[in-house]
Amino acid sequence: MKNFTGAILATLLTTTFAVAEPVDDNLVLNEETEMVTRTAAPAHVSDALDEVMSGWLFRGTETRAMQADDFDNPGMIFVEQAQDTWVTADGSEGKSCSSCHDDMDSMAGVKATYPKWNEEAGEVRTLQMQVNACRTERMGAEAWKYDKGDAINMEAALSSVSRGLPVNVAIDGPAQSMWEKGKELYYTRTGQLELSCANCHEDNYGNMIRADHLSQGQINGFPVYRLKNTKLNGAHSRFKGCIRDTRAETYKPGSEEFIALELYVASRGNGLSVEGPSIRN
Ligand code: HEC
Ligand code: HEC
Repeated sequence: MKNFTGAILATLLTTTFAVAEPVDDNLVLNEETEMVTRTAAPAHVSDALDEVMSGWLFRGTETRAMQADDFDNPGMIFVEQAQDTWVTADGSEGKSCSSCHDDMDSMAGVKATYPKWNEEAGEVRTLQMQVNACRTERMGAEAWKYDKGDAINMEAALSSVSRGLPVNVAIDGPAQSMWEKGKELYYTRTGQLELSCANCHEDNYGNMIRADHLSQGQINGFPVYRLKNTKLNGAHSRFKGCIRDTRAETYKPGSEEFIALELYVASRGNGLSVEGPSIRN
């Protein structure tokens, strides 16, 4: 079985031996904030990787430049929309986010710690789940659809005020069982291609797959604005696309499986700077 999978991967990876190393470049946001785009792997992945690297290092020159300047970053348009939403009252209580949280900058550092255990609810929450909890339980407003419109815009805005801070997701204590579940999913081969996340993003990052330069599949840059669909894309939607590419049945954005996978994948990037909203093909 192992050889069989190897053969499929070999045909997927370009036959011309197109090994393309990540670029040697530094990301400085708005000529001001130095971002950590590669750093020593956190202890819990050091058996598999020496270094963790942002997906930014695997993108082309123009895409990288676009992300380095907020005026050129189309993702920032959606951040601005969310900043308006932040101060707009919604729901039966007549409250806006700012009624309780002051300005958006008060959320600096929050994105870096999500997904995170919520003691009161007794669950691991992604940032979108937390925002929806505020909406349904504190504002009397409807939950936003996962990875869509307002939800992904708000995640991008919350991320934008944490840019440059290191991802620091807790994996121990009550979050540990979800983390283990996410890890198991990461190493499970799926679909007709029988490929796991690790087969591509751990064993083959740096290689070309079809026309694409494989990264480590980190999520420190999420949400990402994709040039291909000209909108913000959430991590769960990306996971869904990757699993579908192995020709497997996949899970839904917001599902228990993807919450666990987000926790695990986020933790693989502990130490990298929060970059969202970033730009990808
Ligand atoms: C009525 C007050 C209230 C409103 C309105 C409200 N929140 Fe909250 N929010 C809270 C409280 C209290 C907490 C912390 C307790 C908890 O975990 O639920 C919190 C927690 C959060 C957190 C997590 C902070 C952390 O450190 O982990 C985020 C993010 C957040 N809110 C975003 C929002 C957004 C976005 C909106 C508007 C859509 C909003 N909130 C509206 C009261 C509110
Ligand atoms: C067949 C190979 C393959 C498999 C298997 C695969 N991916 Fe991917 N993935 C890609 C390619 C190609 C891209 C686009 C180039 C890149 O950013 O690496 C990508 C992109 C990503 C990205 C975006 C990274 C960024 O910085 O924008 C994430 C996150 C990701 N994958 C996570 C996963 C997870 C989690 C799994 C397992 C559920 C998985 N992938 C399985 C090929 C794969």
